[in-house]
Amino acid sequence: MKCRLAPSILSFDLSRVRDAIAELTAAGAERVHLDVMDGQFVPPITFGDSYVAAIRDVTNIPFEAHLMVNTPDRQFEAFAKAGCSRIYFHAEATVHAHRLAQALRGMGIEAGIALNPATPAAAVETIINDIDAVLVMTVNPGWGGQEFIGSMLPKIRAIRTMRADIDIEVDGGIEPHTLPKAIDAGANLFVTGSYLAKSRTITEGVQALLKAC
Ligand code: DX5
Ligand code: ZN
Repeated sequence: MKCRLAPSILSFDLSRVRDAIAELTAAGAERVHLDVMDGQFVPPITFGDSYVAAIRDVTNIPFEAHLMVNTPDRQFEAFAKAGCSRIYFHAEATVHAHRLAQALRGMGIEAGIALNPATPAAAVETIINDIDAVLVMTVNPGWGGQEFIGSMLPKIRAIRTMRADIDIEVDGGIEPHTLPKAIDAGANLFVTGSYLAKSRTITEGVQALLKAC
């Protein structure tokens, strides 16, 4: 299957991230995954929309914001303006997922919903046709470099059964030995951070993942 990779910059040296994005683009990554954390929804704090705007020009592949923040809708305008064409908010961060998805689509932004490991696939069932993508967390959000949680595979399968043409993106612990399991379960887009950061070069890491598809 065509492997679609969305590298996360979270594990890269943020002072050199422009070179890293140029390299992952040249190596064949499809989109850049931006892990935005507010220190409330998850303990760490990462970066805001101004940082995203500052690196937007280094590549023309799409930017997607993964908002691990409370009151995510407060951030939609800013991250859209900063150049993100897809925004994931967490189902656990709102009681109005349908309204937030509608708001994103109304802005011309692809609406994505992220599900923490403890949140069932059923959380997206009633709005599966009102969103563009589901981000299935296969680690607990907040940190890169964690182990892939294999018990999320049935959740991926359940979401794929709900809708054949939706992007199911898997986020956390993706390496050459976990990627094929996620593909078999029905995922078609893969976030990867620490695996690339620990590879000899980003290019080699991307190639190893593409080979594993
Ligand atoms: C974790 C982030 C993930 C993480 C993936 O909260 O949402 O995108 O950066 O990193 P790895 O691939 O290292 O698990
Ligand atoms: Zn993420």
